[in-house]
Amino acid sequence: MFNGEKNFIFHGSDTVKLANKYGTPLYVVSEDHIIDRCTEIKESFLNKYENTRAVYASKAFLTKEMCKIVSREGIGIDVVSGGEIYTAMKAGFPMENVIFHGNNKTIDEIELGIETNVGRFVVDNLYELELLNALAAEKNKVMNILFRITPGVDSYTHEYISTGQVDSKFGIPLKEEILFEAINMAMDMEYINLLGFHFHVGSQLFENTSHLMALDILLELIRNVGEKVEFETKELNVGGGFGIRYTKEDNPKPLSYFIDPIMERIQDKCEEFNLERPKIIIEPGRWIIGEAGITLYTIGGIKEIPNVRTYIGIDGGLPDNPRPALYRASYDGVVANRMDEELVNKVTIAGKCCESGDILIRDLEVPEIEPGDILAVKSTGAYNYSMASNYNMIPRPPVVMIKDGVDRLVIRRETYDDILSREVI
Ligand code: LLP
Repeated sequence: MFNGEKNFIFHGSDTVKLANKYGTPLYVVSEDHIIDRCTEIKESFLNKYENTRAVYASKAFLTKEMCKIVSREGIGIDVVSGGEIYTAMKAGFPMENVIFHGNNKTIDEIELGIETNVGRFVVDNLYELELLNALAAEKNKVMNILFRITPGVDSYTHEYISTGQVDSKFGIPLKEEILFEAINMAMDMEYINLLGFHFHVGSQLFENTSHLMALDILLELIRNVGEKVEFETKELNVGGGFGIRYTKEDNPKPLSYFIDPIMERIQDKCEEFNLERPKIIIEPGRWIIGEAGITLYTIGGIKEIPNVRTYIGIDGGLPDNPRPALYRASYDGVVANRMDEELVNKVTIAGKCCESGDILIRDLEVPEIEPGDILAVKSTGAYNYSMASNYNMIPRPPVVMIKDGVDRLVIRRETYDDILSREVI
């Protein structure tokens, strides 16, 4: 860890200088890391296997600048709301590379998707199918769709980020009477072009077993619908969920650990069932952006409760990172201005919200610290900025992008007036 520097250097940038320049709390995102991950996607997937596509699950972290980076890398995006579509559109993102998800898209959102010509709708249920067909008819456009299937596979992750199990609010259940009816309906619809299926088993996975189990089920389904309702599957979207490192205990695998067995299983089954292999799509979110981000905080009050614990207060917490409170997520951090000092104390990092659950890190080893020191929390790129709130009327932090050691502000710090700006009385 210690590289001879007194300050924590993140992808070539001195984090203490960034904290001084932009203030704290501060999200710092490394464009270099994002590009490295996109390169790995190309090497391990897109260039290695033909008839494949990758889309970035933008719910993990979405800004117009992020859209531009991803687009330059030749990767599409997955969106789940009108706001995400709007962001992509405003960024000039090629809308044919946008996949529109969501278990309850509103009429307005569906209309926006049709008007902006999103490349694919992932249709979650029959109500949405009929709505989409009717709204597309009004605009005289044929929309390309996939059906989201609930494969009935449990994944070994937190219950709130597990999505593929039978009892799920997402997708069409794998029951022939429901699914075959849906496929028949879609094939008969004038403004719907059904291309295939989608599944997503869960998030922050370290094992490929859930994907493989879901694939076995989906490939069987593809064979059955080919035989029984004469539907030829042209696309299969296998979702995201590839895990990253938050703490030293996490042991993430390279993308190829997931991709190669997935592609092998698909190839084998297609040969066995005498099917043409559909186009395969992946949707990583966290895997692209998670480790690209850190959050910088300034340490304030230090509260030692003898024989119990020492609380270190920071100037952010739950509003900029709700994940520990929501999912008991673990994070790691360093005191960014004391990288050359020995770790002598174990402390608990407490956020500033009026909420006992606002604890960011438990039992973090730190050197002797003082108020004014800078704490860097690692792997905060995914689902932090995108899930941030104004709880306690706390303004959301800015986002600084770094590339080749050069920093640029991409989102400015929110002000108190920003927070009040929608009040009309
Ligand atoms: N595709 C679909 C259809 C999804 O629902 C998701 C995530 C992804 C792709 C991307 O998953 P990833 O590669 O990022 O694991 N807020 C939670 C995560 C919720 C994920 C929801 N769906 C968290 O902070 O852990």
